[in-house]
Amino acid sequence: MNLSAHLSRLGRDLQAGELRKLITEFGGGSSDMISLHAGLPPEASFPLASMSLTLADGTRIDVDETDVVKSQMQYMVPQTGWPPLTAWLEALTAEIHRPAGAVATAVTSGSTQAMTMLLALFLERGDSLLVEEFTYSHILECSLLPEGLQLHFAAVDEGGLIPSALRSQLESLKSDSSRPFPRTLYTIPVGQNPTGSSISMARRKEVYDICREHDILIIEDDPYFYIQWRPEPEAPLPGLLDLERGQSYLSLDRDGRVIRIDSLSKIMSPGLRIGWITASPAVVERCSLYSNGHTLGACGVMQAGVAALLRRWGDAGFHSHLQRIQGIYRAKAAAAARAAQESLGGLAVFQAPTAGMFLWIRLLHARDGRDVVPFMRRYNVVAVPGFVSHPRIHDPTFECPYLRVGFSYPSPEAVYEGVKRLAQALESHREEKGSCAT
Ligand SMILES: Cc1ncc(COP(=O)(O)O)c(C=O)c1O
Repeated sequence: MNLSAHLSRLGRDLQAGELRKLITEFGGGSSDMISLHAGLPPEASFPLASMSLTLADGTRIDVDETDVVKSQMQYMVPQTGWPPLTAWLEALTAEIHRPAGAVATAVTSGSTQAMTMLLALFLERGDSLLVEEFTYSHILECSLLPEGLQLHFAAVDEGGLIPSALRSQLESLKSDSSRPFPRTLYTIPVGQNPTGSSISMARRKEVYDICREHDILIIEDDPYFYIQWRPEPEAPLPGLLDLERGQSYLSLDRDGRVIRIDSLSKIMSPGLRIGWITASPAVVERCSLYSNGHTLGACGVMQAGVAALLRRWGDAGFHSHLQRIQGIYRAKAAAAARAAQESLGGLAVFQAPTAGMFLWIRLLHARDGRDVVPFMRRYNVVAVPGFVSHPRIHDPTFECPYLRVGFSYPSPEAVYEGVKRLAQALESHREEKGSCAT
């Protein structure tokens, strides 16, 4: 794939800079080299010398070996991340996704920073971007729309993107000379936010082939990948070791078209602000240059802490940790689905989630999720009206009969009670406003 045809002007123009080149050249010099070139604060001035982490189970991890903390408090963390952590994440992705082509890894400050960096590297104001019809509202509202992108929303159903619809959409966009043709697809393939859907490998393959035909870059934002489960309560949880291998766009990629974003936010905690990009070495090189000028990399101290934790856990510990998390989400999703099954009949349709954090419901008697808000208030429950996740969010004529139920945070009992209250709110709405089924 010809990467430069996809880069924004900024993405193409980024340079390492003369100072950085000098530092890189002399950085690994002999031990008697006296460095007078850098504006680094001396380590003796740092107030912290080591770090100790206490895990939720009481295990203590001291992060002071080999001056790790000291060196991570300095500038100069490679822009792509602290090598021991990068290597661990790279090995994880290699094992789980088995990329077909050469890839490299860059640690980021969470998926959000990865995404904003990619938008800067690949899209100009006014460019077209393909997104799922409903997409991650935070990115939509805080980046995609204010950055002046023209959003083309691709049709989805309970199985995610619909390849045949995507194909026809692109065919018609191709013949529309009034707008730039989209060169990038942003997609959330597993436990999609907000629809909760996960796309099958068969569909993914079709989508990949369509993108290939039209030379479209795929940004695969997959923070819910490690939160998947089989719905039967007795089914074993996959953890790490039993997750099916090769289930991503990255796994299919033969020509460096896929940029995958992972995150520790949902499986460790959002406050760590650690995510990672896996993409062709040429893309990762652009990311590194971008970070050099914008963030100077993700927090080094936190990277050292997380690397120490992962080293202590090993694969077996990470596997058990993931199983525990998947079990937590499965129990909450089951509570949401049970309450929905029992009480939403005739009011809404939904699909029991098997990944992620969201139950997406289509309202049968309200034209728009916002119509139900006063009734939710009455029953002391709140779910998110679907319009916030739609590219037409600011269109006052747009009607969107969906609600997103986030089941991740409350206890299973509270989730169950919340969905029951939601059903009461919908029932009251129907009684008072009558049915305006769409
Ligand atoms: C699709 C998607 N991407 C990214 C994020 C944010 O992830 P991070 O905390 O790694 O920035 C979220 C969180 O809600 C999300 O749903």
